[in-house]
Amino acid sequence: MSYKAEYQRSMDDPEGFWKEKAEALSWFKFPEKILSQDEHGIYHWFADGEMNTAYMALDYHVENGRGDNIAMIYDSPVTDTKTQYTFTQLRDEVAKTAGMLAGLGVEKGDRVIIYMPMIPEAVIGMLATARIGAIHSVVFGGFAPPELAVRLEDAQPKVILSASCGIEIKRVIEYKPLLDKAIALSSHKPSSCVMFQRPQATATLVEGRDYDWKTLLETAEPAECTPVKGTDPLYILYTSGTTGKPKGVVRENGGHAVAMNYSMEAIYNMQHGDVFWAASDVGWVVGHSYIVYAPLLRGCTTIVYEGKPVMTPDAGAFWRITEEYGVKGLFSAPTAFRAIKKDDPNADMVGKYDISSLEYIFSAGERLDPPTQEWMMEKTGKPVIDHWWQTETGWGITANLQGIEPMPIKLGSSTVPTPGFNVQILDENGHHLGKNEQGYIALKLPLPPSCLATIWGNVEKFKESYLNSFEGYYASGDGGYIDDDGYVFVMGRVDDVMNVAGHRLSTGEMEEVVGGHPSVAECAVIARDDDLKGQIPIGLVVLKTGADVDEETLSKELVQMIRSSIGAIACYKDTYIVKRLPKTRSGKILRKSMRQMVNGQPYAVPSTIDDVTIMPEIEAQLREKGVIS
Ligand code: COA
Ligand code: AMP
Repeated sequence: MSYKAEYQRSMDDPEGFWKEKAEALSWFKFPEKILSQDEHGIYHWFADGEMNTAYMALDYHVENGRGDNIAMIYDSPVTDTKTQYTFTQLRDEVAKTAGMLAGLGVEKGDRVIIYMPMIPEAVIGMLATARIGAIHSVVFGGFAPPELAVRLEDAQPKVILSASCGIEIKRVIEYKPLLDKAIALSSHKPSSCVMFQRPQATATLVEGRDYDWKTLLETAEPAECTPVKGTDPLYILYTSGTTGKPKGVVRENGGHAVAMNYSMEAIYNMQHGDVFWAASDVGWVVGHSYIVYAPLLRGCTTIVYEGKPVMTPDAGAFWRITEEYGVKGLFSAPTAFRAIKKDDPNADMVGKYDISSLEYIFSAGERLDPPTQEWMMEKTGKPVIDHWWQTETGWGITANLQGIEPMPIKLGSSTVPTPGFNVQILDENGHHLGKNEQGYIALKLPLPPSCLATIWGNVEKFKESYLNSFEGYYASGDGGYIDDDGYVFVMGRVDDVMNVAGHRLSTGEMEEVVGGHPSVAECAVIARDDDLKGQIPIGLVVLKTGADVDEETLSKELVQMIRSSIGAIACYKDTYIVKRLPKTRSGKILRKSMRQMVNGQPYAVPSTIDDVTIMPEIEAQLREKGVIS
């Protein structure tokens, strides 16, 4: 099957196309309604199908003779631990953990928050929640208590699963104090918290609310799989938008399972028994899709890696794992490849290991910059394939489909639209732009399976954030163009979202924190280009009249405020005091113009600017401080 034929079929007959892909999975009741619309006009896939995602990912394989195959490998250089689970062992652990949750009163549709490091229990907790038809919401372990509190408040979980600590390169991070603080900040209180105690730190348990994971599990009865509808939510994953409040992306069971399974075959060319390694974290969408669900649905072996690409212990980590477990497909983010390149510029580490099992290296999270892509391909001798996606879609919107028809790699492009995604470039009025013309990237509705069904508890916000900008389209928030060969080039966000080491952060959210400092009158947080992390935030602040604080002290205080409100992963380090900020006459701060300025690009100022002298004034101030060279 050629890419063109496969793609065209998905456009001409979406229902027939996705019905056929759904047949590859084992449903309790196969759906009759393939595509339908709800009372809000929102599209859904497989509404009346009955299924269970954890069943499809585990029990199904056990029942079909793959019970002794390895489902999950845990490799933790930071604790010097390695373990493996067969499909049977993982199913049994998941069933018992599901029983443990049921014993705490978790029922179908209830929410379970999972705030855990990269250990097998995080994956087991997710699958156990899915097994009883409940909805998980994983919160990345690097988020600070206020971020966790916002998610608690919004998702209203009955139970929280957590661990006593996470392990970073330089320190052990105790989770329990962070969890207790978040619960104190939230008006919603979970009825129970289950703590997985690790030897590196012991969590103190609150009587009557907190339980020890291992003790509780000992007496738990294995739970059976609860059938759910195709449209019942599997999980909520919060992501940064342009405002201070993260959005709860809702993923439905049916469409998700179908797209995950299809993507393993079509995009990644993975079959039963192949080893697939997504070097990410279960706290992010890449981790949900390609550490947990997709590899297991496809009967592959997945790897849970508790470590970094470098420093645990060195830049050979990716190649060591590849050799040790026979990895066929590796998936990570450009920032990880840049970190490896920085620490091992001649790629001496690649030569130390046998990486002959590796057929593909996939990249996502931010645009793969051509120098890094070229370096990776030259040093490894493997195709390094960029693909573009978002938390909202859960899988690649554009890709180079290795299981359908591998296409020539063009540096800087994430290749062509994945079957099911109708990718269009529009101008700000929603008119179609021609080849090579840069504009807003929009996806024509209906979106294919797995894309978000709504924002948790707020369908109006879903419409307002994604559907109202261009009638009949989903607005991706990214800008770019399509070339003469149909290759898509995604050039970056068109809104106030930034991307730090493949992590999506809202500048608005950081501005709320910076603006909360007693000396700050107003501020703008903008993204500065960074060789390692892609972008890092910097703050430009105007002081309140009479404020008595110097730039260095203010900078240190703001770093601390961001770390304790959002988390160290925001990588906020530099603050610069300026006299005024440029605004339009209606008071909108010109962040884009300032971002262009600090990154040494020619900057445009709108005709609505309030005072034309401010931009040159700021430029001079930032030049004097050495921010602009
Ligand atoms: N829990 C607590 N803190 C965490 C954390 C976690 N799970 N993950 C990161 N942090 C902290 C780090 O300790 C660091 O704190 P510090 O400022 O006190 O040193 C800070 O957040 C920044 O972390 P990170 O971005 O990981 O930077 P680093 O310098 O430690 O490592 C890289 C650099 C490139 C190795 C790292 O960014 C990396 O592995 N990136 C890949 C990202 C990725 O896979 N993204 C997924 C998208 S697909
Ligand atoms: P997240 O939802 O955190 O995965 O972030 C999604 C955003 O990351 C997208 O909207 C893009 O801005 C960016 N992104 C992810 N993958 C790519 C890619 N391959 N090329 C360009 N940008 C990407």
